Amino acid sequence: MLFTLNSGSRTTVCKRKGELSAVWASGGSFAKYSLLGRRFTRRFTALRQKAPFVRRALLFGCTLIAEATIAPAVVAQKVQLSVDVSKASVKIDRNIFGQFAEHLGHGVYEGIWVGPDSTIPNTRGIRNDIVAALRALKVPNVRWPGGCFADEYHWRTGIGAQRVVTLNPNWGGVIEPNTFGTHEFMDFLDQIGAEAYISVNVGSGTPREAAEWLEYLTAAQPTTLAKERAANGHQAPYRVSSLGIGNESWGCGGNMTPDYYLSQLKIYTRFVRNFNPSQQDKQQMLKIAVGPGGSETEWAYWTEAVMRAYQNRQWSWDINGLSMHSYTVGHWPPSFASVGFGETEYSKILKFTLEMEDLVSKHSAIMDKYDPQKKVALVVDEWGAWYAPLPGTNPGFLVQQNSLRDAILAALNLNIFAHHGDRVRMANIAQMINVLQAMILTDKEKMVLTPTYYVFKMYVPFQEATFVPVAFDAGTYVHGEISLPRMDALAAKDTAGKLWLAFTNLDPNQSIEVEASLAGIIARSAAGETLTGPKVDSVNTFDAAKTVVPKPISAKVEGRKLDLTLEPKSVTVISVEQ
Ligand code: AHR
Repeated sequence: MLFTLNSGSRTTVCKRKGELSAVWASGGSFAKYSLLGRRFTRRFTALRQKAPFVRRALLFGCTLIAEATIAPAVVAQKVQLSVDVSKASVKIDRNIFGQFAEHLGHGVYEGIWVGPDSTIPNTRGIRNDIVAALRALKVPNVRWPGGCFADEYHWRTGIGAQRVVTLNPNWGGVIEPNTFGTHEFMDFLDQIGAEAYISVNVGSGTPREAAEWLEYLTAAQPTTLAKERAANGHQAPYRVSSLGIGNESWGCGGNMTPDYYLSQLKIYTRFVRNFNPSQQDKQQMLKIAVGPGGSETEWAYWTEAVMRAYQNRQWSWDINGLSMHSYTVGHWPPSFASVGFGETEYSKILKFTLEMEDLVSKHSAIMDKYDPQKKVALVVDEWGAWYAPLPGTNPGFLVQQNSLRDAILAALNLNIFAHHGDRVRMANIAQMINVLQAMILTDKEKMVLTPTYYVFKMYVPFQEATFVPVAFDAGTYVHGEISLPRMDALAAKDTAGKLWLAFTNLDPNQSIEVEASLAGIIARSAAGETLTGPKVDSVNTFDAAKTVVPKPISAKVEGRKLDLTLEPKSVTVISVEQ
């Protein structure tokens, strides 16, 4: 039996002998092969330079039969991709690009809020640099105040001139000054142009407490609570676009059974009302129930229970969304490092993150049984990478770096949500600033934008665009035991009719040549941006903020064909001009 060792320019043909098994991936300047049950990746140029070594290695396991030079195209085959713009279907809800800001570590304090007396430039206590950076992301909504924090939060501690000082037992047991409360959060949203997704306290609070908070926020008539809001500086009612009824009520939110949670859910959805006159007929507040936290049977059971209750609901209660939390963590407690890792950890984390596809499909299928019209959205309101805390930081603050790997991870997840756009209509990455997979890191007056930030920025054109199916087979990228799709892609038509294409090249070693055939559009040119960096663990730091930043890229367009080269380990977004 023969086996071949391929590279972009050379093929070595060997006869199988003893333990030798087949070459399992190759291309470009790298060859991947297995020999005596072990897997190897060698830069082919290095192999050629070390010809005697190669010969010895190969002859050790096989008899060399022939070596020949072959055309690069044999290995580095172009990926054929087809897009038919006339097949545009479901809208990609801009709310899948939502953010999450919990009172946790430096997510809110220092990240958003520095107070009006700070030397850091601010507007009414809110950092100007953060606001400018977030405005560029067109953040659709921000989930607040938690997380686990929400189920211990009393809104009254965060209003008025004298704030009640409390503790934050979930996250480091630190002092919670409550200087960032309802008005500051709504001011922050106003400054960045986002909508409010408020999580009310079901775990340790009461329905009345939550009802009064919503009345305080939204009543236009001169009730005592509305007048108190006006006295505290905001005459007009606030808009609250989404209401989370509890957080992880099966865990940190009270360790409830599905039945117990359902009894609470029905009461909260009935009595926690939004009185804002502009949200009565249109733009009604979405009520989001606690949903699953994984893929195991217990989580299917939770989704079944809530959705069955929804199907049999009485007139007096309703929900519009079911939340789902899923972090890319590997295993608990989080132990993967956020910096200083190699290709093995890169490929493992991407493998874990792609489980989101199964998770979404599985829970969507359950929801379809009880809600075939897809009225209830699946709201992935906590997702992202959760790594080991950075050494020297408070472990309760969930501080981690953010690398090129996270940018790729973000793109893959956003693509999954967009592909399931008929059911996934909202998602919130955890968390916006300084916590877990953050958009932005700060250190006093310094601020740095992470690789994940740039993916969110590059994906802005996909907000409210219409999903267009893409067909391709790019093969796999293999590292050790891990096999991953080599490439991922997303296409959409924006509200002006322009086609947008996003590509993720997961392979950290090989570039990918894409040849796209476009139907339903006459293309003239195509250009955009690509995001990559020197290494899979490249990060942006306060001192070197431009290591992983987008750079311009253009594609060759001829008739209905578009040619583009994707750099290894990159995320690329281009628009096609007609
Ligand atoms: O995002 C950090 C925590 O993760 C949230 O507070 C909680 O909901 C989840 O377990």
